[in-house]
Amino acid sequence: MADREVEKGSLLPSAVSDERGQWDAIDPDDILLSNELLGKGAFSEVVAGLWGGTPVAVKKTEETGVEEFHREQETLCALRHPNIVLLLGVVPSRLWIVFERLGGKVDVEMVAKNFLTVTTVACDVAKAMAYAHSRGVIHRDIKPSNLLEDGRGAYKVSDWGLSRFIDTERRMSGDTGTYSFMAPEVIKSERYGSKCDVYSYGILMWTLLTGKTVPYPVFTPEQAADGVAKNVLRPELPTHVNPDFTKLMQSCWDNEPSSRPDFREIATKIIAIDAESKMRKKEKLPKKKSSFWG
Ligand SMILES: Nc1ncnc2c1ncn2[C@@H]1O[C@H](COP(=O)(O)OP(=O)(O)O)[C@@H](O)[C@H]1O
Ligand SMILES: [Mg+2]
Repeated sequence: MADREVEKGSLLPSAVSDERGQWDAIDPDDILLSNELLGKGAFSEVVAGLWGGTPVAVKKTEETGVEEFHREQETLCALRHPNIVLLLGVVPSRLWIVFERLGGKVDVEMVAKNFLTVTTVACDVAKAMAYAHSRGVIHRDIKPSNLLEDGRGAYKVSDWGLSRFIDTERRMSGDTGTYSFMAPEVIKSERYGSKCDVYSYGILMWTLLTGKTVPYPVFTPEQAADGVAKNVLRPELPTHVNPDFTKLMQSCWDNEPSSRPDFREIATKIIAIDAESKMRKKEKLPKKKSSFWG
């Protein structure tokens, strides 16, 4: 990739490509960091800033998180989708990743109050994941705190630090993700593939629907993981909810990965559920008075 020339008078500071051609290196002097801490995780903190006047979120990774830093930026270079957080560039010398600045995390309690919001979030995540899987990428940490609002009514999947390119030859094994969202095959450290994201998505659907963040409140994380691994424990089904949504959710958390739908099928079904609930809502609304134009 050739170095980019920046037009004279342009606000955008120069971004040059890395010698491996994988990402755009940003000069840290071009970033104006604020004191606003947007979030903090195991290996990083995310701070608000401006890059050539553009609001950005800078993920500053600690040295212990160098693997996550490389994974996240390598994955995101391969992904361009309206429902996936946009990577703008990296500062390799400081282990910074510069993202478009998004709004807050998805608040499941708020989401659960309106089924149309539930289906909007579920739709956006399904579209993002159908795309990511089609590009050979699995996320491995799908959960509400990794979904961010864009301020325009859309939701984006972020935090690709645990992501991997799907290895079809030697399917991956080992611990990853967050306990309650973890698929049985991941808990058992068996070989797993992209369907582990579908399992996590099923648990995500449950949290969106119920507004609860903990599916198994009476169990310790170890007991819950044991129950899920033995296929004797799943979140309690809420009553009086859309039966198609419930059926899809249960199929996503099936114990057998091959019995879970793929994201292409999920996206089609959830888009249909979303469209139907929007139509029903419209029908229930009182008809508008006829306007001057009839
Ligand atoms: N692009 C962004 N815009 C706004 N806030 C963000 C952005 N990226 C991350 N954050 C905030 O920082 C938190 C941690 O970021 P995340 O990428 O999930 O890191 P970690 O791997 O530490 O969980 C997020 O939950 C969110 O609150
Ligand atoms: Mg996170």
